[in-house]
Amino acid sequence: MNKSYYVTTPIYYVNDVPHIGHAYTTLACDALARFKRLDGYDVKFLTGTDEHGQKVEKSAEAAGMPPQGFTDRVSQNFRDLADFMDFTHDDFIRTTEARHFRACQDIWKRLKDAGDIYLGSYAGWYAVRDEAFYGEDELKTVDGKKIAPSGAEVDWVEEPSYFFRLSAWEDRLLAYYEANPDFILPSSRRNEVLSFVKGGLQDLSVSRTTFKWGVPVPDDDEHIMYVWLDALTNYITATGYPDTDSSDYQKFWPADLHMVGKDILRFHAVYWPAFLMAAGLEVPKRVYAHGWWTNEGQKISKSLGNVIDPIELVNKYGLDQVRYFMLREVPFGNDGDFSHRAMIGRANGELANDYGNLAQRVLSMVFKNCNAAMPDPGPFTADDNVMLSATYGLLNTARKHLDVQAFHEVLEAIWVVIRKANAYVDAQAPWKLKKEDPERMKTVLYVLSECVRNLALLTQPFMPEASSKLLDQLCVAEEARSFASFGPESALKGGFQLDKPEGVFPRLDVEE
Ligand code: MSP
Repeated sequence: MNKSYYVTTPIYYVNDVPHIGHAYTTLACDALARFKRLDGYDVKFLTGTDEHGQKVEKSAEAAGMPPQGFTDRVSQNFRDLADFMDFTHDDFIRTTEARHFRACQDIWKRLKDAGDIYLGSYAGWYAVRDEAFYGEDELKTVDGKKIAPSGAEVDWVEEPSYFFRLSAWEDRLLAYYEANPDFILPSSRRNEVLSFVKGGLQDLSVSRTTFKWGVPVPDDDEHIMYVWLDALTNYITATGYPDTDSSDYQKFWPADLHMVGKDILRFHAVYWPAFLMAAGLEVPKRVYAHGWWTNEGQKISKSLGNVIDPIELVNKYGLDQVRYFMLREVPFGNDGDFSHRAMIGRANGELANDYGNLAQRVLSMVFKNCNAAMPDPGPFTADDNVMLSATYGLLNTARKHLDVQAFHEVLEAIWVVIRKANAYVDAQAPWKLKKEDPERMKTVLYVLSECVRNLALLTQPFMPEASSKLLDQLCVAEEARSFASFGPESALKGGFQLDKPEGVFPRLDVEE
């Protein structure tokens, strides 16, 4: 049986229009999913929409629509974005689906049967924007209003509520973090979670009675389930749970990676594992919290009117260019700034000049100087072997970095080889060899073509469109495009005819 890999994005609140933050999280998962598929894994890649709760109910009201009709409409925006971005998710879950109600109610019953849920009443602060409860000590007062650390306004809530005995899970959570040091990445975020849990956990209110838009609590439909308990459950719903015999559950649970933004780490790294442990279910292997984007140095917000629309971005710069920029510009895990200058700088400097030119120079010389046929090489020199082994070493380097979601490191390692290949072209000067030593020229062009083949295989998860065009130009068959074909065993065999090559990374016009 193939190795399996299950990666999830957060499910997006439908009240928002899709923006760069949503596209970023899903993009990172998409690159990982593509990489793992090429690397021989059976991959399940899940995304979807979070459709319940007070926030969505209020947005539906404001739109003058019943919540179901509203969510049907706006959920589609996220599906459209995913299609437009060419994301390769295997499933798109909506929390309003019947399969999800079943899973939520089943988890609830397990928690109840385990004695981890009890009825009480909640009196405290709630932020609808975050769908989160806050303690008095976490709030500050601004202009007479109580504000959560996230900046969201809070309201005082008093209502009967079921509670989850989170306080009882403190030690077991800490033991889990201890035994699984890579459960929360990056490690700076892990430390934050650890100190939060060590600070003491309070029981968590897990049902609401003052509005209706959600999954009813089994046997007490006065209550609907807290939207975060509902939302987190999506990850296991999509594996077929509560049918634990289903093939997807067997193959994919526990998930390998929940990718989330730093703002929602606590829900994923504290509440979710506690719910799962209490329900007697396995805990996911990793939660990775990435950073946030600012726009030209400014926090992105609707009120500032500087929200970045990923569709506009792609229409302006190209999909591969945007994918490359987002994964390369910022060390993954850190916050990052989007600027047009940086976007154009990378697209022109690294894609058009470094990578695009390398491929275009090499393939054009094969086309012009070798009668459009890939030459067979003569004996390799030491320089040739250095160049080839640097290229062949890349797959293992990429695997190592991707195992800790260091996308920027993978790309940097690839660019080290691209720069080396450009230096090799200059040093070998095949245009001079054309007259002086045509046989040696063929070997040099062969070495370079083989480098481009391997580079193009490896850049598929990051720049799928351009990589596939490069592989087309090198006449690499569809079935020879997985990482099983990376390396010397599948090296190019000379003799095939090339079409006139075309550049795959156009230079972007710099506008002021
Ligand atoms: N519905 C919850 C998640 C439930 S998962 C069980 C939610 N949704 S959200 O739509 O508000 O946010 C989804 C993701 O977008 C979060 O991971 C968040 O970090 C990310 N981003 C929102 N704005 C962002 C930026 N400006 N930059 C990067 N990511 C950002 O939270």
